Amino acid sequence: MAMEYSEKVMEHFMNPKNVGEIKDADGVGEVGNAKCGDIMKMYLKIEDGIIKDVKFKTFGCGSAIATSSMATEMIKNKPIKEAAKLTNKAVVEALHGLPAVKIHCSVLAEQAIKKALLNYCKKFNLNIKETLGENFKEEDCKTC
Ligand code: FES
Repeated sequence: MAMEYSEKVMEHFMNPKNVGEIKDADGVGEVGNAKCGDIMKMYLKIEDGIIKDVKFKTFGCGSAIATSSMATEMIKNKPIKEAAKLTNKAVVEALHGLPAVKIHCSVLAEQAIKKALLNYCKKFNLNIKETLGENFKEEDCKTC
């Protein structure tokens, strides 16, 4: 049976936003899913606590590309504390849903952003809770 994808998913898959790499990124996060073999890498440029630029490279399925694209749009020009709270559920909602077997693709996007934010804190020696918020959990950035 053919899988049903929303128009939003197709739009972000066919014409993904923020694809690429930031050479002098302030934070980089790479995650992968061992089962499907997909890999996602996020690059963040941060100024005064705001995500000024974000780019991604995804070696993976269409849903992974669509969720990376939507997730980057959702955190661009936002305070890092807000970006740290982005959940895969919010990305899926913004995409008007994903088939159940594709939900793990959206988890990759959430984790890649969290890992990049964590990398930023470590790189600049910043207190993680103060920078990313009290509820930020390092263990959430583990690869799925
Ligand atoms: Fe694994 Fe999409 S099939 S990320």
